[in-house]
Amino acid sequence: MLVLLGSLRPDSTNRRLAETALAALPDGVHGAISTLLPSLPHYDQDLDTDTPPEVVRAFREQVAAADALVVATPEFNGSLPGVLKNAIDWASRPRGTAALAGKPAAVLGASASPKGAQWAREDAVRVLQVAGARPIEQTVGLASAGAALEGGELAEDVRSQVAELMGRLVREPLAA
Ligand SMILES: Cc1cc2nc3c(=O)[nH]c(=O)nc-3n(C[C@H](O)[C@H](O)[C@H](O)COP(=O)(O)O)c2cc1C
Repeated sequence: MLVLLGSLRPDSTNRRLAETALAALPDGVHGAISTLLPSLPHYDQDLDTDTPPEVVRAFREQVAAADALVVATPEFNGSLPGVLKNAIDWASRPRGTAALAGKPAAVLGASASPKGAQWAREDAVRVLQVAGARPIEQTVGLASAGAALEGGELAEDVRSQVAELMGRLVREPLAA
């Protein structure tokens, strides 16, 4: 399970949500947050040759090796952040043999608003679909994220929604 995390800051509420998802994985299923997203160059078709930048090669290898993807997205101006879109763009090429082609994916999102990054989550599902992955339509949002995490642990209802989504994700077959 590979997590694509759309926030770069250490105290990210989406990081906490992603860690909750990783902790909810069934025994024997391993997962990690990719550390490569901040180092990816902006997508440039002229860099996307048979010998792309080393970090792109390594990122595509991470994605290809994963049985499934979890996308954890903040909402920036009503959509997913550029760092996440950029990572998905790199993983979506070359079109015929893209690293994320056919990958089951689940989307989580935490934001400051009461809608819990709803637009970003919806956009992430659509972008993943267009890019060739197989995102689950149902997503989990964490509303008013800063306040929701003030006490430390996430509320039980959010943790159980995350656990249910992770359960669905691990049951998804790898190929369509
Ligand atoms: C440039 C920018 C734009 C933002 N736009 C939105 C928005 O459209 N909707 C929303 O709910 N929150 C918005 N926010 C607030 C973020 O959702 C909030 O900072 C969130 O906690 C960031 O995620 P993180 O804690 O994982 O870093 C915005 C924040 C920034 C910095």
